[in-house]
Amino acid sequence: MQYLRNLIEKKEKISMLTAYDHASAKIIDRAGIDIILVGDSYGMVKLGYKTTLPVTMEEMLVASKAVSRAVKDSILIIDMPFLSYQTSERDAILNAGIFLKETNAQAVKIESLESNVDLIERLVKLDIPVMGHIGLTPQSINKLGGYIIQGKDAVEAKKLYLLAKRLEQAGACSLVLEGMTSECAKKITNDIHIPTIGIGAGPYCDGQVLVLDDLLGMNPDFCPKHNKKYADMYNIIKKAVSDYKIDVEAKKFPTDKNYIKMDKKELKKFNKE
Ligand code: KIV
Repeated sequence: MQYLRNLIEKKEKISMLTAYDHASAKIIDRAGIDIILVGDSYGMVKLGYKTTLPVTMEEMLVASKAVSRAVKDSILIIDMPFLSYQTSERDAILNAGIFLKETNAQAVKIESLESNVDLIERLVKLDIPVMGHIGLTPQSINKLGGYIIQGKDAVEAKKLYLLAKRLEQAGACSLVLEGMTSECAKKITNDIHIPTIGIGAGPYCDGQVLVLDDLLGMNPDFCPKHNKKYADMYNIIKKAVSDYKIDVEAKKFPTDKNYIKMDKKELKKFNKE
């Protein structure tokens, strides 16, 4: 992933956003965002699951293919969903390979624990680029006991730091640092040579990632502390669909600009028959 290394060498910050469909991926790509991630957050954001655990390979593949057909310039990375890599090395290679083969993605992302660093090393050796992901890893929600910020005490922060170092040695091309204290993310970013992309990890990472729907304000019931709402799309879309309903009921839509009339001669013939 030389492109990412070049970006940090030039001291430019890396921008990354999630996308789960063709239309939004096209906008993100054309806006010049560096990396598009088909995150397993797809399961919660678009499929309505309560956690990221239920989303399947098949569901991720449909979304990833739709996104990939829109991507021209951005780097495309796909999240390995829960149980697509934990069951065996063979499953991990096959599933990561399917993503690379069928979507033209440049890398897969794996939520990284002590227990899967060797697996990540193996994938990298097979030329499957892997972005690691540490800190608040949502697939471990049952172990973490909630969406709790990590690295608050020195022992926990040291563990994350050492894990980041091990992932760099294992050949990860980049690391997502999610939901961790900014000091912990800063030390990791300073001491490793691969780009760190933060979400809820403060300003010192080499780049930032947000979930597109959070940035757009699509869900009025969810605005996590790490998010910045750049638009209020929930209310914009709600007003648009309400206006449509009012127009339909008031017979103001469609107007003669929205449909085509028959040629008069043809109409006469048609009415005679
Ligand atoms: O699934 C996802 O959207 C993610 C990002 C938050 C990094 O993993």
